[in-house]
Amino acid sequence: MPRLIRLMLFSGLACLALAGVLFLTVPRNESAGLALGEDVPFYSLPWNDNPFYPGEITTADGLLANWETVPSSEFCAQCHYEEYEQWSVSIHAVSGPDILYETAISANEHAHDNRQGTEKIRWCESCHEPLFNLIGEVNPLPVVGPNDAAAEGTSCIVCHTAVDSEPLAGNGALTLAINTINDYEPALILAAPAEHARAMQAKTYNPLMGQSEFCGACHTEIRLPAINGDEPMHLQDTFDEWRRSEYADRNIQCQDCHMNANPAEYIAALSRGEQPERSISHRFVGINYLLTAADLPDNLVVFLRGGYPPGDIPVDTWRASLLEQQRLVTALLQEAAELTLQSSGNAAPGEALAFDVTITNSGAGHDLPTGPRDQRYMWLEVQVTDADGDVLYHSGWFNEQTGEVDPEAVMYLKLLYDEHGERITEHILFDVEHLEYTRTPIPARSSDTIPYSLTVPADSQGSLRVEVRLWYKLALQELLTYLLRLDLVVPPVLMAETILEIPLQ
Ligand code: HEC
Ligand code: HEC
Ligand code: HEC
Ligand code: HEC
Ligand code: HEC
Repeated sequence: MPRLIRLMLFSGLACLALAGVLFLTVPRNESAGLALGEDVPFYSLPWNDNPFYPGEITTADGLLANWETVPSSEFCAQCHYEEYEQWSVSIHAVSGPDILYETAISANEHAHDNRQGTEKIRWCESCHEPLFNLIGEVNPLPVVGPNDAAAEGTSCIVCHTAVDSEPLAGNGALTLAINTINDYEPALILAAPAEHARAMQAKTYNPLMGQSEFCGACHTEIRLPAINGDEPMHLQDTFDEWRRSEYADRNIQCQDCHMNANPAEYIAALSRGEQPERSISHRFVGINYLLTAADLPDNLVVFLRGGYPPGDIPVDTWRASLLEQQRLVTALLQEAAELTLQSSGNAAPGEALAFDVTITNSGAGHDLPTGPRDQRYMWLEVQVTDADGDVLYHSGWFNEQTGEVDPEAVMYLKLLYDEHGERITEHILFDVEHLEYTRTPIPARSSDTIPYSLTVPADSQGSLRVEVRLWYKLALQELLTYLLRLDLVVPPVLMAETILEIPLQ
């Protein structure tokens, strides 16, 4: 027998034998969870008996997840490399380590009314790095040991143990059966793959994985009175926006657009009235064109993402994949909206020129924009020039040196205020008392029309050129400058544009 075959046979048999031994010796349906007091002493409970409050995430048996056994995504990568590679460039992979989040939670911890500053962080962690909350790490005293998976943000095991969800309750309202699974042993998995697939909530066994209700738990953010204020205040409502849209009626789920190898192509096909197939992807393409900017100088993207991903993906492969992610993000943003420009007739020198700009949310399965709209916003740029190229009107400029946007622009931005009526520009959510919109976000498949007018100078001749652009931007300059202390201007992304020539009489 050739040596290689003998070796393979031998290792195959060894694997089977090991699987047998493990199958007999490892307790299977016993909780791996840890109890407060007994296993984890000195755990602070300022509000009630729920160790994860004011986050809504919980475990199926109510015990803390075990910091010694919860596996890193690196473990799953051994056998699911493709999913791992896609996830490694997603924003879920950095929802914890990303430098903006890390800085924001410490700023929140020190927000002015900081009683239970640390415990309140359990709220943020429930969505951003749920395992830190579940293992009991978010405590004034260090009472548990380190865990690699916890630092991976929304890691494989977070989503793949979810057995229940309460999307409208939000704040991470998932129930994870994370303590009942003991088969983190490659040999055991290979010996009983169906059992493993069931434990990992494969969609065939758990239909929730294919539904928006699953995503909604973390894509609904509510500031509770335990944090601040007297009444709950909704800060993000992406799930509810989707639920009220025609996509919910048409059974088009979050997964269909965002767990899709090419969301922009999929949405374009939907718009043409087709029923497109999709290939499932763990890239979770969204809007983050900054944390995917692998071409920024000085390895800035690695700094912003809080380091390299876990596992041994080659750095060059990962960088190339990040740039591909950025391309997919830009394409998605360009598929989200349509612009139309309507002029109410002819224009004449010395007279008024009026026209309407209509923005249609043609591609997003929820409001446009959505998410944390105090840090993601869009605005219109409108410029009118005469035949000589002289600018007659300009609204919505962007200053590339300072990052400043025309304060008079038609803009879709959420303004957060503290109890003294001071504007909060750095995402310090613990301080939020009151919010308002500069302009209401546009629901799915709806439009918003904005009238513009100007007076054409008496000496103009030839024709006028009206240019309209819709821009999308993440991160207010204040967030970058004062919270991150970074000398960086993030340019906006062009979502749509339209140009009209109007002859003068
Ligand atoms: C030793 C290899 C191995 C490891 C490690 C492993 N898996 Fe699996 N997994 C498999 C095999 C084999 C199957 C069954 C065949 C299939 O569907 O791919 C499977 C199936 C699955 C499925 C169902 C796939 C489907 O088609 O619906 C999910 C989900 C899953 N694994 C998630 C995970 C997660 C999350 C981890 C890490 C906690 C993990 N797996 C670790 C080998 C492994
Ligand atoms: C944000 C939640 C989330 C994270 C993080 C996540 N998954 Fe998934 N995964 C899902 C959902 C939801 C599905 C089902 C998607 C569908 O069928 O529409 C899925 C499907 C799968 C499947 C079956 C794929 C198929 O083609 O049927 C595998 C295998 C899998 N995940 C493994 C992993 C691994 C490995 C990781 C970590 C590298 C991971 N997942 C991270 C939510 C997640
Ligand atoms: C309900 C889940 C949830 C909770 C609770 C939550 N977040 Fe977030 N957070 C999100 C989601 C979802 C996004 C971004 C999604 C997107 O890209 O639109 C986000 C985005 C962010 C960002 C990125 C902003 C940017 O411009 O890139 C920061 C920073 C952040 N959150 C900090 C916090 C802090 C600090 C807390 C607690 C005070 C917190 N979050 C609580 C879900 C949550
Ligand atoms: C455990 C909580 C959790 C679950 C479950 C979850 N997400 Fe997220 N998601 C987040 C957080 C937190 C962020 C923001 C991370 C940041 O900006 O730091 C985010 C960001 C995103 C983004 C924005 C990416 C970008 O480029 O801006 C998309 C899209 C997204 N999630 C889609 C989904 C979909 C689809 C599902 C369900 C299959 C899902 N999420 C399930 C917590 C979650
Ligand atoms: C029909 C396709 C479609 C569906 C369905 C859909 N989305 Fe989106 N999503 C988009 C598009 C297009 C964008 C980019 C424009 C925008 O930000 O709204 C986007 C953006 C996002 C972002 C980033 C938003 C931001 O501005 O930071 C998040 C987070 C997100 N979606 C989550 C979800 C969740 C959660 C669901 C299900 C409840 C969902 N999406 C359903 C198409 C879709």
